[in-house]
Amino acid sequence: MSSANNLEKINAYIGRMPSLPVTVTKVLEICNNPKTSPTDLNRIISLDPVLMGRVLKLINSAYYGLGQQVTSLVRAIIMLGINTVKNLALSTAVVDNLSDRAAFQAINMDGFWRHSLCVGVTSRMVAKKRGVDQRSVEEYFAAGLLHDLGKIPMNNVLSKEYVLAMSMADRERLPLYFAEKREIDTDHSEVGTIIAQSWKLDRAIVDTVNAHHAYLEYDGPYKDILYTVVLANYFANIQEIGFSGDRYPERIDPSVYQFLGLTRDIFEEIESGVTAEIENARIFLKTN
Ligand SMILES: [Fe+2]
Repeated sequence: MSSANNLEKINAYIGRMPSLPVTVTKVLEICNNPKTSPTDLNRIISLDPVLMGRVLKLINSAYYGLGQQVTSLVRAIIMLGINTVKNLALSTAVVDNLSDRAAFQAINMDGFWRHSLCVGVTSRMVAKKRGVDQRSVEEYFAAGLLHDLGKIPMNNVLSKEYVLAMSMADRERLPLYFAEKREIDTDHSEVGTIIAQSWKLDRAIVDTVNAHHAYLEYDGPYKDILYTVVLANYFANIQEIGFSGDRYPERIDPSVYQFLGLTRDIFEEIESGVTAEIENARIFLKTN
């Protein structure tokens, strides 16, 4: 099949993908305004009982260990911070939108989400260790969770070609994006970027989706998030937590460790905590 045809099919599929729920789009929009207050956010979230339930569930989860029940939404928003609530709304909406089991043809859905969750929680853990501001760590989680977004339409619409790309990667010990490019003439970074842009996601996420396999050429403002996700992705792949189709991922460039001010010891430091964090996030996002 011609590559133009492949791209057309992918684009048509993306066009048919459900957009994010109106409340979530509204949440993203108002949270990007620095003048937004918890009361403004409260007004919008109150319109969506499911999202409201999730925010309250998060603040009352073991993760925050408050020991006393928070029942007021505005109080929960104040305690969690606007950024955390925003990224929670975004992550749950994306996972809800993209968890149609039938859509996962070449890559198994549970393996894919487990990989994605691992990259999300690892990114957040690394960010915390490096002393990134508490209000920003959720951005790292969301970028990590969504970095491989583009694999979903590809393995759905072009499942035969995707299986071929995966076996080429296996046979020739290539990173998957490389084999995708050869077999399908596009890769999951490009496809993911189209989705992230059409959903108007934050630039940090768009850039991470777009550049996570070409990070050395990246010179935008979100290098810290991008490099953290690159590191976390490598960790998930070598530890074989979940499966994203990549058996032979590229080694990461030493400049990644350098830029983040870390050594490989970081993997040992976070290793024992990752599984529990994935479990928390999984229950929370209901990935199965
Ligand atoms: Fe990737």
